[in-house]
Amino acid sequence: MQVQFQKNSLSVSHQDNVFQLHPVWLRERLPGEEYFDIDTHQRLYEPSSIHLELQITKAELVDTQLSIEFNDGIKGSYNINDIIKELDEKQNKKGPIPDRILWNAKLKKFPEAQFEVDMIDKKSMYNLLMDFYKYGFVIIKNVPTENKYLLKFVNSIGPVKATNFGEYFDVISKPNPNDLAYKPIALPPHTDNPYRKPAAPGIQFLHCLKNEVSGGFSTLVDGFAVAEHIKKNNPEAFESLTSTNLRYQFQDKDIILENWGELIELDKDGDYKQVRYSTRVDYVPPIETEKLEIFYQARKVISELYCSSEFELKFKLQPGDIMMFDNHRLLHGRTAYDANEGMRHLQGCYLEFDSTDGKLRHLARKFQ
Ligand SMILES: [Fe+2]
Repeated sequence: MQVQFQKNSLSVSHQDNVFQLHPVWLRERLPGEEYFDIDTHQRLYEPSSIHLELQITKAELVDTQLSIEFNDGIKGSYNINDIIKELDEKQNKKGPIPDRILWNAKLKKFPEAQFEVDMIDKKSMYNLLMDFYKYGFVIIKNVPTENKYLLKFVNSIGPVKATNFGEYFDVISKPNPNDLAYKPIALPPHTDNPYRKPAAPGIQFLHCLKNEVSGGFSTLVDGFAVAEHIKKNNPEAFESLTSTNLRYQFQDKDIILENWGELIELDKDGDYKQVRYSTRVDYVPPIETEKLEIFYQARKVISELYCSSEFELKFKLQPGDIMMFDNHRLLHGRTAYDANEGMRHLQGCYLEFDSTDGKLRHLARKFQ
């Protein structure tokens, strides 16, 4: 990293890039009690009021302190590392959130965490969240099997996302269910609730309280790994799956929920944002026949991959396990079971990513 000041222009070279630092950009970051509230770190003035003719008259870097003087007489100093953090695009956007590790059925070692009482501010929670962001899931072992203990655990990370199903749901065979999840049949890989607005719940938790049946295995598929496979091997299908907008609908006697989205949604950088796969509740619109035919071929491709042994993890949740997984990246399901063999009881709930992102950023201040 190098800093150069010439003719009112300050340039910083970092990672093979040279950044010209704009005087206003620097000024609106100028540290100091008169500019930023000590407790909240929020700016105490309106940055658009900074004079646009502002110039840098002097700049000097000594160790990590970058001292600057402006032509209106105001001066101050910055920690150059704070500036560098913002020049690094990846760090600036993702902070401590690690790169994903895409996986398939060959994944040897499951990401696991041991439950601890009051673990929210401990290194173990930092490790748990790091694994969650890498793999899209983590199994938390030895959680007390008390009714609704899940809510206590999840609320320690952030407020549980309540829906029209309530704060939590019981996955247990029950008479006259309003959802297929409550019947002991197999549930093929799917994502939950794509019909919700503004988006499907980000994270799902399933806490196993009892599992006395011989079937009822849990399944997980890395949707982004499948998407990557299709991108490499079948570009036409990938194009169709990332551009065909489907409608998703849920209805019961009280409500009709609807939203739209692609089976594979990309963000504006072309990175994976979300997969949706809930074939009991999706409706493709009447687009042109030719496009529809390509879409139906593509849907067959993705459906076969989601259900293939190449990508699916199959395992049995034990009482005391919490399975935490990314509902925008992973698909989940279960094998059938015989409800007459014994009890199978899971409790589930949702959480949004701002809670896990926020906690990870907070914990990274302590442990990174
Ligand atoms: Fe589900």
